[in-house]
Amino acid sequence: MTPHNEAQKGDYAETVLLPGDPLRAKWIAETFFDAPRQVNGVRNCLGYTGTWKGKPVSVQATGMGQPSLAIYVHELLDIYGVKNLIRVGTCGGLSAKVKVRDLVIAMTAATDSAMNQIFAPYQYAPFADYDLLAASVNLARDRGFTSHVGSIVSSDVFYVPDGAKSYGALLDHGILAVEMEAAALYTLAARFDAKALAICTMTDCLITGDQIDSSQRQSSLHEMVELALDVALDA
Ligand code: HPA
Repeated sequence: MTPHNEAQKGDYAETVLLPGDPLRAKWIAETFFDAPRQVNGVRNCLGYTGTWKGKPVSVQATGMGQPSLAIYVHELLDIYGVKNLIRVGTCGGLSAKVKVRDLVIAMTAATDSAMNQIFAPYQYAPFADYDLLAASVNLARDRGFTSHVGSIVSSDVFYVPDGAKSYGALLDHGILAVEMEAAALYTLAARFDAKALAICTMTDCLITGDQIDSSQRQSSLHEMVELALDVALDA
């Protein structure tokens, strides 16, 4: 149906979870969905549709970074009519407040991406959908998860030259964490009048050097995906 996606119209549910990693998409479908079926395998960027607690839901890998995410998300919105997009990712901590395993729920995302230079001379403020945001914050609180709601930075560069310092003045303006996708996701959702949210588990702190270990990573990802799927139920 597109150069990047072999799914037919109607193959995706209205709500799609978005991990970066294709194998995480497969794991989400196989672990959580009832009756999962693969809808995309082009470039091994796997997508699946199934049900969660009786409601149709999909998962689509985005790859890493905003250019890759933007291809899949643009097509989900433009071709496949998707309405709600929930990124389930990881992030690097940029604030002493945020500890490894905490959830970071992005209200907004600053970015260095060329994609958002279309707004010059303005600097666009990409924003999460309020209903998805509020639902995820409430569920996180009910489940006793430590979550932080605020601003993140979606960077185009993973290997920054100077660690946390590379994020400059952002550090003095309440930025919580860095990842590589949310700003493009929010900008595209706004363009197509859809809802979007990025929920990230903090896996590595750029301030302290703390890192999640592999068993914690798996249980944290499990909790985050279950939370996102329950948010999807009411989306
Ligand atoms: N930088 C960018 N993206 C990330 C990081 C990071 O340190 N950790 C997890 N996602």
